[in-house]
Amino acid sequence: MQNVVLIPGDGIGKEITKAVTTIIDASGAKINWIECEAGEATFKKTGNPLPDETISAIEEHRIVLKGPLTTPVGAGFRSINVALRQKFNLYSNIRPAKSLPNIEGPFRSVDLVLFRENTQGLYIGKEHWVDDDKKHAESIAVVTRDASERIITAAFEYAMKNKRKKVTLVHKANILKLTTGLFLEIGREVAKNYPEIEFEDLIVDNMAMQMVLRPHIFDVIVTTNLFGDILSDLASGLVGGLGVTGAANIGDSAAMFEAVHGSAPDIAGQGKANPTALLFSALMMLEYLDDYKTAEKIRSAVYTVLQDHKEECTVDIGGSGTTQTYTDAICRLLSY
Ligand code: NAI
Ligand code: MG
Repeated sequence: MQNVVLIPGDGIGKEITKAVTTIIDASGAKINWIECEAGEATFKKTGNPLPDETISAIEEHRIVLKGPLTTPVGAGFRSINVALRQKFNLYSNIRPAKSLPNIEGPFRSVDLVLFRENTQGLYIGKEHWVDDDKKHAESIAVVTRDASERIITAAFEYAMKNKRKKVTLVHKANILKLTTGLFLEIGREVAKNYPEIEFEDLIVDNMAMQMVLRPHIFDVIVTTNLFGDILSDLASGLVGGLGVTGAANIGDSAAMFEAVHGSAPDIAGQGKANPTALLFSALMMLEYLDDYKTAEKIRSAVYTVLQDHKEECTVDIGGSGTTQTYTDAICRLLSY
């Protein structure tokens, strides 16, 4: 049995984690789920959005499957998602976006993997008021050589291992000459160690346009924290939306798997949430645990349901079913 810390989270979190653990259990994977709390609901109940018991469980078991956690906009507690990534030094945020069968959209052959630097940039939370009457705010972005080198190297290593052809580094070094300039400089250095892989760099605004015009020309993408956040939602939009894109946060001694999307308060509690995104994150977890066989078995069941049982899929991807009917359809296939 493999112990995995399970954090259901806020909004649609409970519905989709229930669906995903049901599917993983039905696949025969031997996972022992250790349920822990975090997020806005936990904050409202206990005054602490990230309880010590949750941190201890992660320290002990080192693998987490996490539903989305709500972060208050503007004032209020800081993001627990960001805090967990920083606390456990989960520096690689890996976000694949791949076209799926029978899902409507402008593109059919998107297959890209975005590597987002997960510990620095504008996400370090160093913001302050310059004046007393709160009319002038400043935010600090941090980029270091070491952190840039390890995420860019992770992207190239992934490209090598998965027989990818190209790494595109995304930056804004024309304006942010020191921070994203350093990121670009290190990208050029690291690229020299991988002559088999084509390397290119693009400025982020151009990248956003290229991704919507010609997404199939991209393969592996590596970028800083904020750009990675924005471009990974964009990439999700190219392949059917936030309901279908999973993600992994990987460090040297721990890993946390979560969807790209958030807690979707607009559809929470209505049976509309698509669990595919968190399920694909869980498949990345199985692969991280070297169980490629079970991951493939579940992925194949998902593809069959999308292809042949569309009516049982959730509405966001063109079905007329619910979280439950979709989960049942996948479990039915797994039981054959
Ligand atoms: P969101 O990603 O929760 O939702 C954006 C849109 O996508 C909504 O219309 C939603 O209904 C839809 N959507 C998202 N996931 C879906 C799914 N599985 N199935 C079907 N439709 C889905 O982004 P939003 O509304 O900006 O953020 C809501 C909250 O989530 C905020 O508090 C934010 O801070 C938090 N958040 C948490 C993340 C995490 O836990 N890693 C990531 C992103 C946002
Ligand atoms: Mg995001």
